[in-house]
Amino acid sequence: MQTNQSRGRLEIDFLSRKAMPSIEETCSVLIVGVGIDNDPIRCPYLPYNIGAYLEAEGIDYEMTIVDVDSKPLADLRTRQKLYVPNHNLSVGPKSRRFWEDYLARTGQEDEVLHEMEKGLMFYDYIDNGGLVSSKAYLESGIHTAQIPRSFREKLHNGGISLLEADIARAPLADAKFEFVSCSNVLYLIPSDGQKMAMVNMSAHLASGGRMVVNDLGYVGTPLLMRQGGWLDEGKLADLGLAVEEVLAETSSSQTVALRKC
Ligand SMILES: C[S@@+](CC[C@H](N)C(=O)[O-])C[C@H]1O[C@@H](n2cnc3c(N)ncnc32)[C@H](O)[C@@H]1O
Repeated sequence: MQTNQSRGRLEIDFLSRKAMPSIEETCSVLIVGVGIDNDPIRCPYLPYNIGAYLEAEGIDYEMTIVDVDSKPLADLRTRQKLYVPNHNLSVGPKSRRFWEDYLARTGQEDEVLHEMEKGLMFYDYIDNGGLVSSKAYLESGIHTAQIPRSFREKLHNGGISLLEADIARAPLADAKFEFVSCSNVLYLIPSDGQKMAMVNMSAHLASGGRMVVNDLGYVGTPLLMRQGGWLDEGKLADLGLAVEEVLAETSSSQTVALRKC
């Protein structure tokens, strides 16, 4: 499963506009499905970006990260650095701004590699219709930065919990989260599993808490009514949820922020 650096921008924007102003003390965050593709430049950036955002805002946080696959969790446990090819930052101003925000929030200078770091390996992949080789990445440079200080500390002191489980039945005990991110995950699950996952996540959403979910539209199982899925306003109300904002929408995809009533 893959992910990339610009994913999560919508969620961070939403967090800063809507979710954070109501948080007074520790913010409890659940991230479901982080993704990785055997490749350090396709690492799960959302947990780091959320951590960096909260750290910069001076908000203490607890984070639970659930993934059905052990590999992304192992990566989170051991990762020292983030890597972004210059090629990716050149795709559009939003990608570059997102990286610059990350650097500013964590108080880091941009460092650009042109030589392979010891132990760093990554695969060629198809992007924008063309094959981008490792050599081409290195020639144009690979931006690198450390993970947020708070994130490193919390991995050691238990402030961040990594849970290998299917979100449909993940044991979340008595946890209540102010923010749940479940992006590009539910399309991978059949409708029955989606229903169980929505029950599980909404049961652990604090009153007034927010959850982001989406449909990719062109692939996998639809979730939201508008895309042909089962989750309409009535089902949302049964879960104690309502759509607060549509964060992104095309004719075939949708990302929504939900609020627990
Ligand atoms: C396509 S990646 C999405 C990564 C990231 N959220 C993003 O938007 O880029 C999907 C991730 O969800 C995980 N996943 C798939 N089914 C899951 C389930 N039932 N419960 C928890 N995680 C799941 C996969 O292992 C993978 O890490």
